[in-house]
Amino acid sequence: MRLAISTGGGDAPGLNAVIRAAVLSAISRGWEVLGICRGYYGLLGEDEIIPLTRESVRGIAHLGGTILRTTNRGNPFEFPVQQPDGQYHLVDRSDEVLAAVRNLGIDALISIGGDGSLAIAQRFFEKGLRVVGVPKTIDNDVSGTITTFGFDTAVSTALEAIDKLHTTAESHDRVIVLEVMGRNAGFIALHSGVAGTADVILIPEIPYDLDRVCEKIMARDRMGRHFSIVVVAEGAYPRGGEESIIGASLPGQSRRVGGIAGRLAYDIEQRTGKESRSLVLGHLQRGGMPTGYDRLLAARFGGVAVEVVEQQKWGHMVALQSPHIVAIPMAEALATPRRVDPTHDIVRVARATGISFGD
Ligand code: F6P
Repeated sequence: MRLAISTGGGDAPGLNAVIRAAVLSAISRGWEVLGICRGYYGLLGEDEIIPLTRESVRGIAHLGGTILRTTNRGNPFEFPVQQPDGQYHLVDRSDEVLAAVRNLGIDALISIGGDGSLAIAQRFFEKGLRVVGVPKTIDNDVSGTITTFGFDTAVSTALEAIDKLHTTAESHDRVIVLEVMGRNAGFIALHSGVAGTADVILIPEIPYDLDRVCEKIMARDRMGRHFSIVVVAEGAYPRGGEESIIGASLPGQSRRVGGIAGRLAYDIEQRTGKESRSLVLGHLQRGGMPTGYDRLLAARFGGVAVEVVEQQKWGHMVALQSPHIVAIPMAEALATPRRVDPTHDIVRVARATGISFGD
């Protein structure tokens, strides 16, 4: 068996722990393992393909990032190719990938990625590639698994920021708006906001009303709580409005959501007269060492992914369905993106403890 591994989409803490567990599990079965560098670029002849040995995965489980590197611009079905006029056209290069797989004698591929990468893996599966998926994303927006690795680390980073921002907010009687990642899902904002006892949490699943947000801040002020912490998911948007988009995306890249915190802080200051500041936590949430929870989950995903390859369950992905890691069809997981359920107990408890969702 010659197994290949690739990492696609944004990096997430725990990728190296998956790679390590998968490589060692495969080697212990007597298999050979290849690493495809930078998503599918390696298979398109635009980057390397490297042997993955015991030596190459030594001492990497605790490291953030991915030793295979990654990209969110390398969808082989819609690959951006620059034309002589400088414009980019999206070209289908998927057959080149399949040809490279054949030429290299690759028997199976483990694709580690978020919803975008898993959707690409699913399309390759439909074209005959023997592929198994591993769900990765700090956003926690993949269905069928209780959680993805990377999410716990991102929540811990956001929580640390909330704890630290409390100091300045309280000392200066300020409103501080913290923007966290999550794209169109509010899990990072919700979990870190509730754990960090934020005063207002704004998530895409519950469109907000600025008046309600300001009412909450002023109600606290009247009670002698002259500061407020607002945690906003980058994809949150006002009722009847739209999400905030920053800058232009590169060809082949999905649109970049974000920039809402600055606008919100400005609007809150204008309406309440309270000094308001903002902070965008950004890629700090994707960096650093994975938490113990993420490291363990990643190792389990990597090891079980090799079992799934052994069982020849092509087109499946590993998923946490406590207490077990199971294999489910990728198509099933991709059918509906995972979003915060506004009736979930975390939202109910947040409301009961006085947190406003601005609705
Ligand atoms: O999907 C993970 C994620 O970090 C999102 O939370 C965020 O919107 C996006 O990726 C940012 O991507 P990039 O690194 O391309 O700016």
